[in-house]
Amino acid sequence: MEPKFILLLLLHFSTVAKSAYNVVDFGAKPDGRTDSTKAFLAAWAEACGDKIPATMVVPSGPFLVGRALFQGPCKNDKIGLFIKGTILGKTGYSTASEWITFKYVKGLSIYGGTFNARGQSLWACKAAGRNCPNGSTALTISQAKNVLLSKVKVQNSQNFQIAIIFSQEIKVEGATITAPGNSPNTDGIHIHMSSFITITGSTMATGDDCVSLGEGVSNAWIENIKCGPGHGISIGSLGDGTETTMVQNVTVSSVVFTGTQNGFRVKTWATPSSKGFVRGVTFEHGTMKNVGNPIMIDQNYCPVPGNCPNEVSFFLFLVCFASMIVGAPDHYFVVAY
Ligand SMILES: *[C@@H]1O[C@H](CO)[C@@H](O)[C@H](O)[C@H]1NC(C)=O
Ligand SMILES: *[C@@H]1O[C@H](CO)[C@@H](O)[C@H](O)[C@H]1NC(C)=O
Repeated sequence: MEPKFILLLLLHFSTVAKSAYNVVDFGAKPDGRTDSTKAFLAAWAEACGDKIPATMVVPSGPFLVGRALFQGPCKNDKIGLFIKGTILGKTGYSTASEWITFKYVKGLSIYGGTFNARGQSLWACKAAGRNCPNGSTALTISQAKNVLLSKVKVQNSQNFQIAIIFSQEIKVEGATITAPGNSPNTDGIHIHMSSFITITGSTMATGDDCVSLGEGVSNAWIENIKCGPGHGISIGSLGDGTETTMVQNVTVSSVVFTGTQNGFRVKTWATPSSKGFVRGVTFEHGTMKNVGNPIMIDQNYCPVPGNCPNEVSFFLFLVCFASMIVGAPDHYFVVAY
């Protein structure tokens, strides 16, 4: 074990936890072949059912885990999930829209771990233009509150790598998210209907947006991110339905984009019946290296040309670019307010 990992474990134990549940004690096998889904769920049930702060431990792997829903509400609000090894998804694909999900949980900290979804066969299906399912999001935080993901690695998702939906107070720090630049829809972190979301010190290489902020996102802070390859950091797309949609109070600061399609982007559909707004957004201190469109605001977003409404949009934008540094291709500065 890394000394840091042991230290974290000890700290967690000495301060709060009385019980630790190791997935191996529930039958999980670190051989990468034995289906350990039930063992993981059984360990979770114990940690979640504890009336005192509890710890779930995943030692060095690899562990093969299928679709798994780690569900609350739990009887305590301080669960530590310490993952040393790799969690492997099953090869092939199903119609499930999520692989690993934490739902209805309040007070969870996940330290470490590699989640390798092995999305290659689904990407191949999509690339061949066959009739394929959308694919699963690798790691979903849903209807949760006060969740920390610390130094988590997510790889090769079938669809979004991490999704934060209908949740509050979620912090992602030191994440490493990787998928090939040509893998379809593998957004690094997608956020939807959530507030008080912090993402810091993370590296993302994906086939789609590094971070995408969808409908109903407010009070988000994104800082110190390395993005590329990928499509950049995007708000939207918004307004493709008739719903009222908004994004507000978002700061994106100190992002280095390398070889991305876009840098900072806002995309909205020009649907006349759609009511909503994007406001209080600050994009600042961006560094662009070999970026297609460093800044893009598209109020007539249309992924399939000819197939979209093109009325004037009702969206009001208050987007501020503060001290933006654009370094592509040489030293080229744009300062926009
Ligand atoms: C697949 O994604 C499309 C586009 O987002 C969506 O309209 C459709 O309902 C999804 N299908 C399934 C089975 O989830
Ligand atoms: C804006 O979001 C930040 C978190 O990113 C939060 O600290 C701040 O209180 C929010 N401001 C308002 C007015 O809600």
